[in-house]
Amino acid sequence: MTNPDTLPDIPARHERILVLDFGSQVTQLIARRLRESGVYCEIWPFNAAPEARIRAFDPKGIILSGGPASVTEGASPRAPDYVFESGLPVLGICYGQQTLAHQLGGVVEGGHAREFGRAFIDVTGDCAITQGVWAKGAREQVWMSHGDRITQLPPGFRVVAASEGAPFALIANDERHYYGTMFHPEVVHTPHGAALLKNFTHLVCGCRGDWTMGAFRAEMIAKIRAQVGQGRVICGLSGGVDSSVAAVLLHEAIGDQLTCIYVDHGLMRAKESEQVVATFRDRFNIKLVHRDASELFLGQLSGATDPEIKRKTIGRLFIEVFEEEQNKVGGADFLAQGTLYPDVIESVSATGGPSVTIKSHHNVGGLPEGMRMKLVEPLRELFKDEVRVLGRELGIPEEIVGRHPFPGPGLAIRIPGEVTREKADLLRQVDVVYLEEIRNAGLYDAIWQAFAVLLPVRTVGVMGDGRTYDMACALRAVTSTDGMTADVYPFTMEFLSRVSNRIVNEVRGINRVTYDITSKPPGTIEWE
Ligand code: XMP
Repeated sequence: MTNPDTLPDIPARHERILVLDFGSQVTQLIARRLRESGVYCEIWPFNAAPEARIRAFDPKGIILSGGPASVTEGASPRAPDYVFESGLPVLGICYGQQTLAHQLGGVVEGGHAREFGRAFIDVTGDCAITQGVWAKGAREQVWMSHGDRITQLPPGFRVVAASEGAPFALIANDERHYYGTMFHPEVVHTPHGAALLKNFTHLVCGCRGDWTMGAFRAEMIAKIRAQVGQGRVICGLSGGVDSSVAAVLLHEAIGDQLTCIYVDHGLMRAKESEQVVATFRDRFNIKLVHRDASELFLGQLSGATDPEIKRKTIGRLFIEVFEEEQNKVGGADFLAQGTLYPDVIESVSATGGPSVTIKSHHNVGGLPEGMRMKLVEPLRELFKDEVRVLGRELGIPEEIVGRHPFPGPGLAIRIPGEVTREKADLLRQVDVVYLEEIRNAGLYDAIWQAFAVLLPVRTVGVMGDGRTYDMACALRAVTSTDGMTADVYPFTMEFLSRVSNRIVNEVRGINRVTYDITSKPPGTIEWE
């Protein structure tokens, strides 16, 4: 849930680049690469960039993203005229290059060989974008994804790199500071892409790279103070990265005006609740309400087996308990949330129509609809890994900052069928062994999420001379960049055997271990 009234101001002092989005799947990566080189940027839909808004944003340059449309179709998207009237440097990527060429008097045609994936181009010239990165005469790897291509350059442009399939792979109009790439410099499969983008922002646009986490921290503290004044702020703490970093940042800004509420539903992993209390109350001296509501949650979950009913029950109780605790501390004027930039980027729909997508995160930390507090969202300009950098800067322990994501409903969605305290305890023990082995093998940071699932079956086994009839568990480990898609982590058999042996030997009640080898799609990461 977001409230545009409480959007922090656009950072006042940073140089910035505007990225106009034409709907490419990888537009966010342009922003990521720019931020990595210390340049603040924002992504706006191409059709939400009127002259007044661009002027107010005052960018030092504009990047036109790729997109699924074809310039050859009449109704396809165009960059606002002001982009080319402003005198600002422009870089067009893929569709962005084609619309740039079309709008400046060149010709774009469809029907040529489609090129997808890795390709090699010959650098036939040089320009500011290639300076110090690509030498004239070299052959360089890039990543292509296009069907149309330019067949005639607009006036003032020349070719800097070409391949058979892409005769206008990189084009430049040095005088007007316009550049276009048919390939995608923002993806890692274009190995020097980040350096090419940096040349655009630093050499062409003149950015110095003044976006640092230290600067962000100082500015955001000032902004929080200005927004909150003498008001009181409540922050729901989950023990996850985002709410933890938001809480510590807020505390640094407003001290005891902040109260954190940690609703413990009894479905956390082993020792997690103790860790939250030790970190935030004892180490950071943050006013923290720790409500152990495990009896209530587990009681109400009793008998529920349908995943959606389980989720809804937990969500409803979470809000009830949160409100109760909030009333006990006398309410507040503001509610803090750890909303991140990917949740608020306005997105372009596939048809090019204007649409604002705000991820409907099925998070238990969701806000009660009727809550009439204003929002403070100090992380809404940051990507997840920037939040981690900020967390480290704030001195938050690595166990929290580098932690795998954990779902709001906790272990409940890792126990298919009815949830009981006994099952949750069993699962916690399995999880501890599994994650300990992952950490010992040095694999924790290479994995997006790793966890165990308690299967609702009992199977026969043999231990020593005796027959066992115990529960089975599944282990899950995936790699991912955003949780939307995921690949199975390829553990060695040796590793899996070691974990399996330890679990069966050390966790009484489990006699069988399986490894889930389903990617997403078609599976989901969690089992429910
Ligand atoms: P799925 O299972 O949908 O998970 O592939 C994708 C990511 O979302 C997390 N997840 C949740 N997070 N509340 C949350 O806060 C939920 O109800 C929930 N369900 C899934 C999951 O852990 C993974 O990172």
